[in-house]
Amino acid sequence: MKLKGTLQAAVLLLVLIHLQISEAIWFPWYFHRYGLEPHSARHRGAGGGGVTAPAASSGKQTMPAGGANKDKNKGGPTCPPGFELKDPKSVREATRICDDNPVLMQLARLYVVSPERIVLLLAQPSLVDSCAEIRDVLSNIHAATSKCVLAPDNIYGKLSEGLDYFKEVVCESDCEGSSRKRFAGLLEAQNCIREMRTDMIECEAPPDWYETRNKSKLCLIYNDVLDCYYTRAAMLCGIEAAKQLRSFAADSMGRAMNQKCEVSKKLPRVVNAMPSLATSSTPMGMAIVTLVLILIFC
Ligand SMILES: *[C@@H]1O[C@H](CO)[C@@H](O)[C@H](O)[C@H]1NC(C)=O
Repeated sequence: MKLKGTLQAAVLLLVLIHLQISEAIWFPWYFHRYGLEPHSARHRGAGGGGVTAPAASSGKQTMPAGGANKDKNKGGPTCPPGFELKDPKSVREATRICDDNPVLMQLARLYVVSPERIVLLLAQPSLVDSCAEIRDVLSNIHAATSKCVLAPDNIYGKLSEGLDYFKEVVCESDCEGSSRKRFAGLLEAQNCIREMRTDMIECEAPPDWYETRNKSKLCLIYNDVLDCYYTRAAMLCGIEAAKQLRSFAADSMGRAMNQKCEVSKKLPRVVNAMPSLATSSTPMGMAIVTLVLILIFC
């Protein structure tokens, strides 16, 4: 059924491209998922800027089965599904669909082009500097989408959500914050995680994997990436940091994806795991460190 919908959407897309070559150039990729026409085509002659009064001429887009949007869509009969109004009074504003290019440009500043690249931000040389830039990026994205709405499955919108989660856990200074507390071990192991940068890049899945509509395939790849992070981190930074990295990656990447995947309960077996990272603070670790320092300096 999904496949049929995809085919229909593809055919519609081809027809639209054929009919409206000039408009096809800016045609956002996510429109065809719903079998939508370009927004301006539905409001032709009414200004063309996207901010227009609802036109009654063409009201027969395919509506999705999801009931959640039904009521909210009442205010704008030509508003595509998923683009429901934030506030019924601001019909003119809310019916505008965001151009997602500014969002893409902001994410590009951080090289956030995939869910994995959000996790990779953990390995940046300075988290303080990264967090400053992340805050700036997120506030610009917020500004760019404050007077319009992104499709709920827009990939750049999703990546922004993942980034927002990263900010919440890693960048907020509230030490009592529950998510920050949950990943305290991961943040303590930051020096080690930084050393993992290359390993983390090697764990990344093929380009655009997160756009597949085959959920079992999507979730398989997702769990492979998580297990790869876990294995590499366990070898370099110890099991505790590895577990936390895996959960953090699961959460942040999960928010950046269009379908929810279950995280596998089974951890990969790592035979040559690093003994706990906290070694240097145990008496034995201290003794070794002291001995090494004595050997170096004396
Ligand atoms: C979805 O992906 C799985 C695993 O790669 C594959 O076995 C299955 O045939 C795919 N299903 C569809 C409908 O493409």
